[in-house]
Amino acid sequence: LKILLIASECSPFAKVGGLADMIFSLSRSLAKLGHDVKVIIPFYSVIDKSLYNIRFLGSACVHMGCNCEHWIGLHETSLDGNIPLWLVEYADYFNRRGIYDEPGGEYKDNAYRFGMFSKAVLEICKEMGWIPDVFHVNDWQTFLVSVFLKIWPNLLSPFKKSASLLTIHNICYQGKYDAMVLPYLGIDWKLFTADTFEDYGQINLLKAGIVYSDFITTVSPTYAKEILEPIGGAGLSEILRKRADTLMGILNGVDMEVWNPKIDPLIPANYDKTDLKGKRLCKEALQEKFGLQKSTNVPIVGMVTRLHVQKGISLLKSILREALATEDFQFVLLGEGEKEFEDFFRRLSMEFSGKAASFIGFSEELAHLIFAGSDFFLMPSLYEPCGLGQLYAQIYGTVPIARATGGIVDSVLDIRQDPSGTGLLFHQPEASALLEVLKTALDLWKNDPPLIQTARINGMRKNFSWEESAKKYEELYIRIVQKKYSSIT
Ligand code: ADP
Ligand code: GLC
Repeated sequence: LKILLIASECSPFAKVGGLADMIFSLSRSLAKLGHDVKVIIPFYSVIDKSLYNIRFLGSACVHMGCNCEHWIGLHETSLDGNIPLWLVEYADYFNRRGIYDEPGGEYKDNAYRFGMFSKAVLEICKEMGWIPDVFHVNDWQTFLVSVFLKIWPNLLSPFKKSASLLTIHNICYQGKYDAMVLPYLGIDWKLFTADTFEDYGQINLLKAGIVYSDFITTVSPTYAKEILEPIGGAGLSEILRKRADTLMGILNGVDMEVWNPKIDPLIPANYDKTDLKGKRLCKEALQEKFGLQKSTNVPIVGMVTRLHVQKGISLLKSILREALATEDFQFVLLGEGEKEFEDFFRRLSMEFSGKAASFIGFSEELAHLIFAGSDFFLMPSLYEPCGLGQLYAQIYGTVPIARATGGIVDSVLDIRQDPSGTGLLFHQPEASALLEVLKTALDLWKNDPPLIQTARINGMRKNFSWEESAKKYEELYIRIVQKKYSSIT
């Protein structure tokens, strides 16, 4: 099949969170299954051009509504040697310091930026004469592609056999904007109704995507159920329930060529489940890098996360001081996001110098070091569509302490309940429950090391490889393409 993965992020070019890793790994796994895969993202100025071999393919005119025309540049580089990555250049929209936002807040014209990008995707495919069998769109930034395909069948006739699959990576990001953007998007006001675009007076791009895509997936089976309920669905459960027979959860995997302690070039020593010497060296290196006291007897609790309410940072904030004051452990955090949280961790590192440390910013190298050098990986998420952190932690022999929600339920078993467990889970989204599980983990570390060791090794034995998940996507693609064919013939 010809498959086009459309997204706003792709590792290592432009990454904010797990979406970037998912696009990178899924495209590689699909290519290994023999498909003709391409990935397309905007050409942000944050992409470090010196690192990649990027060539200019040509320009195209993107026609938006209100007679707006934009000349965009199309560039190509390669993702993993043989998968083409198309980069859509449009300076006014993408030459900015950030991808979605800057410290001052979200870019106000995001609906315009990503609306134009979505239209450009279709124009480019036409210009290049490369007609995908499947347009696989990811998150609200790209959902307009499925909408355009459905609402303009005549205008977009080259794609009449193409099907669209929409993946929801996080239902709380819906792309809700002022309806005045509709004319620019070229969308008729007739579609501004409660069963398509309209949502309390605004437009909702996720909602429209759900209505117009041929199939919908999300990134774990548990999250697929959670979003059908009013709390998990963030206002969209009803519309999703109408499409329940075309909704499925597929767990993300781990790219074992990138996230694998046996071969990882970003960590100071490699290791595997048969010999953990290297992990001890990584712990020492982590302590040194973050200015923590050097000791093998004290466990390190690590975190790599966006600093956002979703990640349970408020819960952590209310218990971490007490925990550090009374318990024997070290805490390391790598993250960036909301200022209130960034300030909290900066202050905490000063107050508990030598015992708690943080790096506020983004660093792939430090992320790998934390996954490898920590003993526990903390993930107190309020909700978690899939979560890659707890998957990477297990592969690196770092025991997750996590909240049982979404993809965490599908990937971590509690060692206290099951001998094949790999972590410790808590259920209630409450600070007291988090404190309790953290204390239990630290207590087990001290008083029952064999149990923690079992969890560690069980985790390293797990197979989260992308192969299985990619096959599930493949089956779906085939199903929707066949359905499309039979509907037009
Ligand atoms: P989400 O996509 O919701 O942020 P995931 O757990 O799916 O959560 O994925 C997070 C990804 O982003 C992981 O690859 C993690 O290592 C990475 N990450 C998050 N914050 C940082 C950071 N500050 N520096 C480097 N990598 C980060
Ligand atoms: C989103 C979700 C995260 C998921 C990632 C990749 O950012 O918050 O849980 O792992 O997408 O699908």
